[in-house]
Amino acid sequence: MPQLKLPSKVPRVPLIIAAVIVLVLAAGAVVGLVVTQAAPAQPFPYSHAAHIDAGMQCLFCHSGATVNVSAGLPTKEKCQGCHLNMPSDKPALQSWLDYASQNEKIEWVPVAIMPDFVYFSHQPHMAAKLNCENCHGNVGAMTVAEPQRGQNMGWCLDCHRKLAPDKVVKLTDCSTCHK
Ligand code: HEC
Ligand code: HEC
Ligand code: HEC
Ligand code: HEC
Ligand code: HEC
Repeated sequence: MPQLKLPSKVPRVPLIIAAVIVLVLAAGAVVGLVVTQAAPAQPFPYSHAAHIDAGMQCLFCHSGATVNVSAGLPTKEKCQGCHLNMPSDKPALQSWLDYASQNEKIEWVPVAIMPDFVYFSHQPHMAAKLNCENCHGNVGAMTVAEPQRGQNMGWCLDCHRKLAPDKVVKLTDCSTCHK
């Protein structure tokens, strides 16, 4: 097989322009990623840190994780199970009670979310004894949940190759994550 070579007459300038365009587009994509990876505004500034410091477990509010595709979010009733029976001696506690009395339902904005064409389920990952922090960062130190960077296809595949070498065929098969 002869080696594939660029003919010497190929005009170089268009190639350089094309390379510059690619670089500019790539830089734009990076800027776009950084911009889209700021924590979105939430309807109420719920603080994870305050609740983890008070000794609560992640699964107490996100109990779907061990059994379902979704981890799930707590309802307002779940919050009020504690807060209606607690003194509201801090401004943040009082402002929650005010907010909750004025809003029937809280529409939290998704933070950790994959495109629709990706299939992800919490259950097998919990069964494999992973911690929430492996994928969501140090949520216990966060106020509102913050998105994590670089969680693309390569991120999923890297961990599958590393942690489950015996199942790597299944776990790197396109149809495992793209139904
Ligand atoms: C292996 C990585 C991984 C682990 C471990 C993990 N998550 Fe997730 N989590 C994700 C991904 C990826 C998404 C986005 C899923 C989607 O949009 O389909 C997500 C979404 C979520 C969501 C929002 C959507 C939903 O499922 O309700 C919550 C809440 C959540 N995770 C909480 C947790 C908690 C709590 C734990 C630990 C008990 C945990 N996760 C463990 C990767 C992980
Ligand atoms: C198991 C009981 C419990 C549940 C459920 C609970 N909280 Fe709390 N919450 C607490 C405790 C304890 C504190 C700490 C009180 C303190 O700092 O004096 C707290 C603190 C807060 C604060 C004040 C945080 C700050 O900045 O100091 C707000 C606001 C709040 N909770 C809102 C919520 C919301 C919203 C939910 C539901 C998503 C919720 N809580 C669920 C017990 C609970
Ligand atoms: C007292 C209830 C409570 C506890 C305990 C709690 N969370 Fe949350 N979590 C919430 C609420 C309310 C939201 C929605 C607001 C937000 O995104 O900050 C949320 C959002 C999230 C999200 C983003 C969900 C999405 O829709 O994209 C992740 C990830 C998450 N929590 C992980 C954790 C982890 C990990 C822990 C344990 C370290 C934990 N949570 C403990 C109530 C809780
Ligand atoms: C931190 C490591 C880690 C990350 C990150 C991770 N996974 Fe996994 N994943 C695992 C492990 C471990 C298993 C369970 C292997 C086993 O069954 O023993 C698994 C299993 C799965 C399964 C179940 C396969 C089956 O049918 O048995 C799916 C689907 C999956 N992962 C999708 C994803 C997707 C999509 C992402 C990225 C959004 C992702 N995973 C990120 C470690 C990870
Ligand atoms: C372990 C899970 C996993 C496996 C296996 C997997 N993908 Fe993906 N794929 C993802 C995730 C997560 C995304 C979305 C994040 C991103 O854009 O990188 C994605 C995105 C994509 C995209 C869209 C890329 C873009 O830039 O929008 C294509 C095309 C794709 N995958 C094809 C494939 C093909 C072909 C295979 C098999 C060779 C495969 N995937 C195997 C998880 C997986």
